[in-house]
Amino acid sequence: MTSPAQIGPILLVGFMGAGKTSVGAALASELGCGFVDLDAVVEQSAGQPVAAIFGAEGEQRFRQLESEALDEVLSIGTRRRVIALGGGTYVQLENRHRIARSGALVVFLEVALEEAMRRVRNFSGKRPLAASQEAFAKLFEERRSAYEQAHFRTDTTNKPVITIAKELAAWVREQERR
Ligand code: S3P
Repeated sequence: MTSPAQIGPILLVGFMGAGKTSVGAALASELGCGFVDLDAVVEQSAGQPVAAIFGAEGEQRFRQLESEALDEVLSIGTRRRVIALGGGTYVQLENRHRIARSGALVVFLEVALEEAMRRVRNFSGKRPLAASQEAFAKLFEERRSAYEQAHFRTDTTNKPVITIAKELAAWVREQERR
């Protein structure tokens, strides 16, 4: 049987605008545990914002830094915490393997394309991959099958952050009882 202490990291995956960061922070507070935003870890280690990394060194270099940051946060230990991944993190096969080996619980935050576009509209300067609507929509379709490999999913489209956080906290507690 799994005891509560054995529930390790809870990873939130999903497209840009799915609400990974806001739901992640709310879920961590529901569960009374720490919260880590992977983009913030990358920015801290690179000493510059994500958009600047893309601009100066390209997406490939960003993916490399992102994988290193993932490795770092998953190596910290087995205690419970919530980690919001970037929209592309779980799409990279090696990252999915790394995550599977870690035993983390993976949650897919779904969002309708129109809602994702609406949510990131004001932040496209911060998100290099949200600069073109066509490319954004194409990526949205291409990534779905990767996100669907998560253990659990919930749609964030018309739900308040706190409702989603409570729903996920209940699911995590259910996993603890198994
Ligand atoms: C990306 C999503 C961003 C950030 C980077 C690349 C992606 O994170 O990691 O701009 O490939 O979808 P959010 O999903 O938090 O916006």
